[in-house]
Amino acid sequence: MHVSGSLRVPGDKSISHRALMLSALADGDSRVRGLLPSADVRSTATVLRALGVPLADVTVDEIIIRGVGRGGLRAPAEELDCGNSGTTTRLMAGVLAACPFTSLVTGDGSLSKRPMQRVAKPLQAMGAAFDFTRGDGLPMTIRGGKLRGLTWFSETASAQVKSAILLAGLVADVPVEVHEPAATRDHTERMLRGRGVDVRSEGNTITLLPAGRLDAADITVPGDPSSATFFASLAALASGGAMEIQHVCINPSRAGAFQVLVRMGVALVYENIRPDGGEPVADLVVSPKRLDGTKIEPHEIPSLIDELPMLACVAARAVGETRVTGAAELRVKESDRIATTVNNLQAIGVDAEELPDGFLVRGSEKPLRGRIVTQGDHRIAMAFGILGAVPGNVIDVDDRDCVNVSYPGFWSDLARVTR
Ligand code: S3P
Repeated sequence: MHVSGSLRVPGDKSISHRALMLSALADGDSRVRGLLPSADVRSTATVLRALGVPLADVTVDEIIIRGVGRGGLRAPAEELDCGNSGTTTRLMAGVLAACPFTSLVTGDGSLSKRPMQRVAKPLQAMGAAFDFTRGDGLPMTIRGGKLRGLTWFSETASAQVKSAILLAGLVADVPVEVHEPAATRDHTERMLRGRGVDVRSEGNTITLLPAGRLDAADITVPGDPSSATFFASLAALASGGAMEIQHVCINPSRAGAFQVLVRMGVALVYENIRPDGGEPVADLVVSPKRLDGTKIEPHEIPSLIDELPMLACVAARAVGETRVTGAAELRVKESDRIATTVNNLQAIGVDAEELPDGFLVRGSEKPLRGRIVTQGDHRIAMAFGILGAVPGNVIDVDDRDCVNVSYPGFWSDLARVTR
């Protein structure tokens, strides 16, 4: 298979959620271009509408959001259904903790199994009340109100936990300080600074000082590096040619998978590097070379956590072994991604093994055949979709529609570039 031509992947999911939330809470009108039109982002829009934010259709290319101000959200008349979206749930928990009303937060079957105490604990320490009827997961009731400042030593390297605390501090107008065990994606910090808020980062400590303001802003959402990784991997698995992926966010806190692909031997270069919307952006040019197995170390994990299923599929075609450790967080994503990835690799004939906090994959050139059980997990569907597009492999994905969570046009983009 030769690759050629160029592709523009949809807007970044993490930045899209934050663009909606911060624009809704700002004073004045914000213009947002290139929002990701996916199910997860629609969940954030639905929740904000239920809180009284006048949001139009968020699937259009450019929208204007009339902010209600940090004190302008009103008590919801119904439960806040976050669908499949962990980012909606955890970031909005921070906002709701600082609002003077009660909210009931719910989600789908997968989201309801994911841990929420990690955000409840710091927000309770700030003065909000949380009730769980089913242990650590949704549904969760948040009784918000006046909060006090917080210094928090986070046990998990999680941008969602960090962001929940920063947003609580922002809405409550109190200082917060978060110490992370490892640096995580810093979109919230960048976007708050872009709106006039005093947020400082020193090593893995992030401090927000009461701002008294949150400005409206015009932003363009860059292409999602997690989505770009699927097509960079397709090019890596090809036998020749080159593919360009345009306007991709290359924020270092998100670009770990690109570095791993380069380490495995792929020719991947950034062209036309420029800033856009407070983020570094580039066009990626990717072409295949011999692939070698690699070690993905614990310190790299936060920068490529969502890309590990795809990297595992690339490793299935590399020479030698690929070993991933320090990635226990994968077990609490949209599915247990260690089990889902390894079980599916084994089902199509790959030599792969689970580790408590990662996995081993031994690559080969043999044709891979079988059926993938996605567990409704969008990234599993796309990773194996890419591996299945490699000539000689015949891979059937049980639930193709789950890609709508983050990349609704995935299958048509894949069909177009492999035609
Ligand atoms: C995200 C943070 C990460 C990531 C998720 C999006 C975000 O989760 O896996 O897809 O937008 O902040 P954790 O914060 O749980 O690591």
